[in-house]
Amino acid sequence: MTYNKRMYELYPYFTNDGSVGLFSYEADDIYHSTLGAFTEAYEKFVLPINLKSYMQKKTDFKILDICFGIGYNTKSFLNEFYKILYNEEIYTDNKNINYNDKIDANNKKYKLYIHAVDTDKILANLSPFFKTAKNNSKINKIDFKNEKIEQLLSESSYVKYELQTEINFILLNKLINNIDSQTEEILFSKDYSKFFDKDLINFYKFLKKNNDKYTPAAGLNTFLHNIYYRYTSKSNKIALKDLETADIDFDLSINDARQVISKDKKIYDFIFLDAFTPSKCPCLWTVDFFKQLYNRLNDDGMILTYSNSAAVRNAFLTAGFFVGKIYCSSYNKYTGTLAVKNKSLIKNELSQYDLGLTTTKAGIFYRDETLTASNEAILEAHKADVENSNLLSSSQFIKRYGRKK
Ligand SMILES: C[S@@+](CC[C@H](N)C(=O)[O-])C[C@H]1O[C@@H](n2cnc3c(N)ncnc32)[C@H](O)[C@@H]1O
Repeated sequence: MTYNKRMYELYPYFTNDGSVGLFSYEADDIYHSTLGAFTEAYEKFVLPINLKSYMQKKTDFKILDICFGIGYNTKSFLNEFYKILYNEEIYTDNKNINYNDKIDANNKKYKLYIHAVDTDKILANLSPFFKTAKNNSKINKIDFKNEKIEQLLSESSYVKYELQTEINFILLNKLINNIDSQTEEILFSKDYSKFFDKDLINFYKFLKKNNDKYTPAAGLNTFLHNIYYRYTSKSNKIALKDLETADIDFDLSINDARQVISKDKKIYDFIFLDAFTPSKCPCLWTVDFFKQLYNRLNDDGMILTYSNSAAVRNAFLTAGFFVGKIYCSSYNKYTGTLAVKNKSLIKNELSQYDLGLTTTKAGIFYRDETLTASNEAILEAHKADVENSNLLSSSQFIKRYGRKK
């Protein structure tokens, strides 16, 4: 397929769990793991929180989703939140569900505030509409040229978590007034139609046409509408019920996260940091940005990120956090980093090896004292810091102390 060049550049494909992933030619980076965009969000950003234990203690949560993109981290969080609230089984092969440990939702009114931040308005607007393919093994071919992704997609598929359709309806409810003609151009284009949920698009058109209101009137058209929208209205009804069960406030800030956070006065329970890799987007991995995040994090809050880099961990340590690792049981490996103020929240501490690495050249962090530097300037300064350093290189460190984890 050759995409229409006049349009905003979007390179979607189906990842191995059937959810849509994106590729950025500009950043030369993938937005999501080819193993599964939704799976990645669940395992790296949401499950490590152990949300149920928080929900037993408090009812009011603030979430900061830095680099919202098409919203998988927020969607996974909401998915998990409602599953816990309704005491539903979350994953098919989970052996650890403790049914004596239910949340008594009748006596509690939960309140969520989600602040989504990204520089890309179109992606955020499109976020409710992306579909999850049921039989992804048949469709996970990509429509643009990229050997790296093609190779990664040849790995076996893996579907463990299910995104409830109503989560997309909740998001649509929150974003409907933001959706502009540029977003619609993509949404209604044939080029991308296989990646979007037709029912949600039709529902969006229906709401727009009817002035955001259901006004059932007599006549054939209404009759046809009722049949046509039966499925979507059911999902939307569940979404509306969900929104009654818990208050959900949603803000979207379209700007550089550094600017947004320097003006933000809220204190967050969970901060998701999902920027492109440090070598592509260093401005969101600097010690100076992390110091800002320190001031925005609740004492019992958590910052979660997929990065295992020694420079990132060292920047978190230097900014004053306790730092731990995110362990993923599905792969039996560490898949990210956790930064907290309360050390007892850390289940997987950094090993002596991890800590040792932070004291080598590999641990030299990125700097951005004014919080306005370009990515190129930050990379330049970092390169100079490494070249001028007398610290061991990571390979010298490994030679001396072994590759022990
Ligand atoms: C790895 S993707 C995030 C994927 C996302 N969490 C999702 O679920 O789709 C990185 C995102 O960072 C955004 N971004 C890049 N530079 C940024 C900046 N300085 N401030 C805020 N967002 C930025 C990009 O627009 C992109 O959506």
